[in-house]
Amino acid sequence: MLILKELFQINKSKRNLVVKKRETFSSGLTIFFATLGSAVGLGNIWKFPTLVGMNGGGAFVLVYFICILLLGIPVMISEFYIGRKTRSNPVGAFNKLKAKPYWKIIGYLGVSGSLFIMFFYSAVAGWVYSYIFKAIKGDFLNISSLSIEQANDTVSSIFESTVSASIYPILWQAIALAVVGIILFAGVKNGIEKITKTLMPLLFTLIIIICIRSLTLEGAKEGLSFLFKVDFSKITPSVLLAALGLAFFKLSVGMGTMITYGSYFTDDNNLIHTSFKVAFSDTLVSILVGMAIFPVVFTFGLEPGSGPGLLFNTIPLVFSKIPLGNVLLIAFFLLTAFAATMAMLSLVEVPVVFMAEEWNLDRKISVVITLLVMFIIGVLTVHPSSAFGHITVFEKNFFDLYDFISSNLILPIGGLLIAVYVGYNSKKEDVIKELSNKGKLNNTKTINLYILILKFLTPLLLIIVFLNSIGFI
Ligand code: TRP
Repeated sequence: MLILKELFQINKSKRNLVVKKRETFSSGLTIFFATLGSAVGLGNIWKFPTLVGMNGGGAFVLVYFICILLLGIPVMISEFYIGRKTRSNPVGAFNKLKAKPYWKIIGYLGVSGSLFIMFFYSAVAGWVYSYIFKAIKGDFLNISSLSIEQANDTVSSIFESTVSASIYPILWQAIALAVVGIILFAGVKNGIEKITKTLMPLLFTLIIIICIRSLTLEGAKEGLSFLFKVDFSKITPSVLLAALGLAFFKLSVGMGTMITYGSYFTDDNNLIHTSFKVAFSDTLVSILVGMAIFPVVFTFGLEPGSGPGLLFNTIPLVFSKIPLGNVLLIAFFLLTAFAATMAMLSLVEVPVVFMAEEWNLDRKISVVITLLVMFIIGVLTVHPSSAFGHITVFEKNFFDLYDFISSNLILPIGGLLIAVYVGYNSKKEDVIKELSNKGKLNNTKTINLYILILKFLTPLLLIIVFLNSIGFI
């Protein structure tokens, strides 16, 4: 405690002496890839197919598209606006905007949102890490020679044993968090962001390869119709809320992450274009993953709504049917681990920057505290049959509870507040000035449309979905 206090003091005096210069990303392409690095992650590869499967397919996908367009993108533009205008972290940003103190709640919601997401995200990242080693060890090598049922059984028993072993899932979760810590400690985060430019396209290519293979399986037609055929009777209040939460989760919006990213953008970046490009690419990745997974589900007679194991129970099966399948399987989990790590870097950054800038803590100490909290509370997410798994709160185990609190409560509430702040509490001239790069972009019409959606449609839809989900309307 004493050491903490001393560091606190030293840092305070250092900060008073040095006026920190904030860096910016070097070019438009770097901005695009760095932002995509935060957006593309387990949300696309693991959560999207899981939720599509559990919520009945095409209808959910349709609602999800609408949420991206009318809620996700407007909130993303708003976050970029706040970030680049103030060039500071989500809490500091509202100080700079001279907003009433209660708006800081957006910053605090962001910090807690990041923690709640990381509690379960790090667990799933741990599963992915462990699958790299299982694939290297050759655990999936023999499934190509098995019958469909036997292959299914093998793959699902491998998943069960991965998540229900008493100590291994916890160890892998710790490893996933430690990798994030090492990257932040070594100060190579920028290096990693540069690698994104190469690895993202590689991941994309690999997903396309799986897609092509999947689309030639017998269950392809059924898989695609599950993914795209809209059955309106499947749209229930909880489906709406899940799609809304997923849209925010996937675009990394609703908790200020994109405020932080925006604060590093160059002055000449077109914030509206960047938002659309990121949203489009992110959604494309999800859809391709869906097209890769659901044909396998129907070919092998799996249950689409089987939950968090869906990815882990299907991907090894599709690779068992491709030449060099095991090498590609290793590559797939490696690249997924990479994407998950990039996304985690952006998540961990939120509490770290908050502690460093608002409490004047040393950055490294902030990293250690944040990761420790994430680990200690995150460990509770482990499987029902292991240590704490049988404890439930509101009939949910910790895994589902953390996911629900972050995706379905914190992100949409954060998004609503951000939309209301920019829509009603910012001067229209300021918004136009920032989003048009001081008039250089000649896009006033687009900006006006954005403001209109942000003021009326976004908050209204958010409130309706909420009230609907708690049974109010
Ligand atoms: N979007 C990431 C994914 O799909 C997760 C993520 C990273 C995130 N940063 C975020 C979600 C900030 C919400 C807010 O995996």
